[in-house]
Amino acid sequence: MTTLETRRVVGAGIDRVDAPLKVTGTAHYPNDFSYPGMVHAALVGSTVAAGRIRGIDASEAQSAPGVLTVITHLTAPRLERGPMTLLGPSPPAPMQDDRILHYGQHIAIVVADTPEQARHAASLVRVEYDPAEAVLDVDDPRAQIVENPWGLDTERGDVAAGFAQADVVVEGTYTTPDNTNNPLGLMATIASWHGDSLTVHDSTQWPHNVRTTLATVFQVPESGVRVLAPFVGGGFGAGLRVWSHVILTALAAREVKHPVKLVLTRPQMFTSVGHRPNSVQRIKVGVTREGDLVAIEHYGMSSVAMEDDDYEPVSFGSAVAYDCPNVLTQDRQARLNIPCPGSMRAPAEGQGNFALECAIDEAAYAIGMDPLEFRLRNYAEEHPLLGLPWSSKALRECYREGAERFGWSRRDPEVGSMRDGRWLVGYGVAGVSYPFYQVPCQARASLRRDGSAYVRSAATDIGTGTYTVMTQLAAELLGLDVGRVRFDLGDSDMPYSPQAGGSGLTGALANAVHTACRNLVREFLDVVRDDEASPLRGAAPDDVTVTDGRLHRVGTPEQGESYTDILARHGLEELSADGRSTPPRAEEIGMATSGAFGAKFVEVRVDPGLGLLRVARVVSAIDGGRILNEKTATSQIVGGTVGGISQAMFEETATDAGTGRIANATFGDYLMPVNADVPDMEVIFCGGPDRATAVGTKGVGEVGLVGVAAAIGNAIHHATGRRLRALPFTIDQLL
Ligand code: MOS
Repeated sequence: MTTLETRRVVGAGIDRVDAPLKVTGTAHYPNDFSYPGMVHAALVGSTVAAGRIRGIDASEAQSAPGVLTVITHLTAPRLERGPMTLLGPSPPAPMQDDRILHYGQHIAIVVADTPEQARHAASLVRVEYDPAEAVLDVDDPRAQIVENPWGLDTERGDVAAGFAQADVVVEGTYTTPDNTNNPLGLMATIASWHGDSLTVHDSTQWPHNVRTTLATVFQVPESGVRVLAPFVGGGFGAGLRVWSHVILTALAAREVKHPVKLVLTRPQMFTSVGHRPNSVQRIKVGVTREGDLVAIEHYGMSSVAMEDDDYEPVSFGSAVAYDCPNVLTQDRQARLNIPCPGSMRAPAEGQGNFALECAIDEAAYAIGMDPLEFRLRNYAEEHPLLGLPWSSKALRECYREGAERFGWSRRDPEVGSMRDGRWLVGYGVAGVSYPFYQVPCQARASLRRDGSAYVRSAATDIGTGTYTVMTQLAAELLGLDVGRVRFDLGDSDMPYSPQAGGSGLTGALANAVHTACRNLVREFLDVVRDDEASPLRGAAPDDVTVTDGRLHRVGTPEQGESYTDILARHGLEELSADGRSTPPRAEEIGMATSGAFGAKFVEVRVDPGLGLLRVARVVSAIDGGRILNEKTATSQIVGGTVGGISQAMFEETATDAGTGRIANATFGDYLMPVNADVPDMEVIFCGGPDRATAVGTKGVGEVGLVGVAAAIGNAIHHATGRRLRALPFTIDQLL
C-alpha cells in the first residue's frame, strides 16, 4: 500500500481546487438556485421578548399584491420537534402556540411571487401582544438556573487544601458578551416538494442533519429528503443546527405547492441562527512561590434560551490545560428570553480560555516568574483527567518555537517599561489546549475506466478547504495526480458525514477517505487475484503500492499494471469501495486522543492618553497533527486569529435591557475588524502526525481563534499594568 510518507501531495500548499469556480462566480451557493414556478418567503418576527400573541391579523397582508399565503401559529399544523443530534436537541418546532419567548421569534411566514412582495406583505401583518416582563440578565434572580447542564463538571484533589497550600492566590471575574456568528452569506433555504419527497438547498454545515430533521418534523421517509449544500457562504457555527426558518420554508412550500425560497435578512441573522452566549466566569488560581500550580477553581455561568439547550461548558478547558493536583470546574446556565444560542467559533473554549489564560498570567506575575516559563513549568505531560499519555502534544514546541519567532526574549519583564514614542508596548502569551470533537464518518471512492477517481461524502466546505485537502489525500492514497481526482460533497444522498464543526470534520473525513481508498485498492487486487494475465495475481494489499495510476509490487515497479488496464481487461467501467472512520477510544488505544494545541504571542501598542489599542503582531504556533495543506491550514489559523482579534476588541451583540431587542443588528453597528485592524500574522506548525488515527490529522478550524483574547489582555497588562477582564477591550477600559 502506498503510505502518506512516500509522496509529496499531502501537505503541499496547493491552491484550492474550487478556486476557479469561486472567482468566476460559477460556485453556486444556496440562494443562487432557482426552480420553475419558485416563489419567495419572508418572515415576521416578534417585537417583544416575552408574553403572548393576543391577536394576529393577516388580512391586509393576505390581500397584498402577489401574496399566496400567510401562515401563523393559528394556521400552522402541529409539527414534531426535530430529533436529538450528536450536538444536542433540536431547537423547538416553530409557531406551535401563542407564546413569545424571545425578540425576533418567527411568528408568521408570508409567501408571494417576488421577494419584495413577500417582504412588503410581512410588514402588513398586524400583531397585538400581551407582553410579559422579559428575563434578560444572567444575574436576574428570576432566571431559572440549569446546573451542570452537560455533566462535564469536574473535581480532582482537594481544592480548599490546595489554596491553603498556595503562597499566592489570584482571583477575578471575567465577562464575555453575546457575539453573533455573522457568516458573510445570508443564510438561505429553498424547499421543493414532490409528493412526500422534498429537495432542499440550505446554508447548512451538516446536510444529513437537515435531512433527518425535516423527515422527523414532517413525518416523511428520510430516503425521500435530499439536502444540497455544495457551497456555503461561511458558517462560524450558525449552520450546525436546523433552525426554524428552514422548517418554515419547507412548510410554506408544502402549502403553496411551489418551490419556495427564503433568504434571511442581516437583522434576522442576529435572532434566527444562534449566537455565542454571554458568560460570567469566576476563576481563582493558587500557586507556590517556586511556581507550582496547586489549585484552580473555575465557575462559568452562561445564558441559554427558555426552551432550548446549548453546549457551552466554558470552564471545562481549565480541567485539562495544566498539571495541577487540585482543580474544580463548574458550569451553569441561566434561562433567559433570548434567541437560542448555539455554537459559535470555538464555542465555550473561546470564552473559557480567556479567563484561564489571563488568570495564569496574573499568577505568574504575582510570583515574579516569566509567564512563558510558568506555563512550561506546569505543563501537562499526561491528560490530567484520564492519567493517560496524549496521542500527540507538541505544545512545548509551540511555546519554544513561537517564542523564538516572536522574539519573546527581547521582552523586558517590567510592566510599562517598553515604549515606542507615545505608545506603550506590551508582549503577551497564551496557551491553548483544544478539545477533540470526534465523530464517525463515511466516504466512497471510485476509479473509472478513464483512470480518474471520484471520491465523495456528504460533508460541507464552509470555506475551510475540505474539497482541496480531501482531493490531495485521495490523490496520494490512490497514486494519482491531483488533477485526476474529483472530490465531491454537500449532498445528503452521499455517504454519511458529520457536521463541518467542532474542528472535527477534517480528521473524521480524512480517515474515512483513507479507508475507502485502501479498500478500493483491495478491490482491484481482488479482481486480479486469479488473473493469469496480471503481474499482480495473488498479491496481498501490503505487497502493493500505487504510483502514477499504476499498481505494482513494492520494490519491483516493473511487476504491475494500471487501474485502466485491469478495468479494461475485465470489462469493468469502474470499481468502488466504501470506507468509514470511527473515533478511537482512549481506553482502547491507551492514549488520550488529542485535539490541537497552540501558543499565541501578541504585541500590542497602547496610547494611554487616548485609550487606543492596536495589535501590532501575532505569532501563532500550532500543533494540528498532520497538516494536509500548509496553505489552507495557514489560512484557517490566520482567519481564526482575525476572529480572535474581533472577539477581543470589537464584537458585542447589544441587547436592549428593556425590550430584549438586538440594538446593533446590522453590519454598520456590529463592529468587526477591517484590514487596518489586522496586523502582521505569522503561523508556524509544530509537531507531527497524531498517533491515534491512520492519517494523524487534528482539526485546525478553531484553535486559531482561542488564546488571542487572553494574549491581547496579557499584553495590555504588560504595557499598562492593567488587568482587563471584560471583553471586548474598549477605549473606556483603557483610559
Ligand atoms: Mo464551529 S462553532 O464548530 O462551526
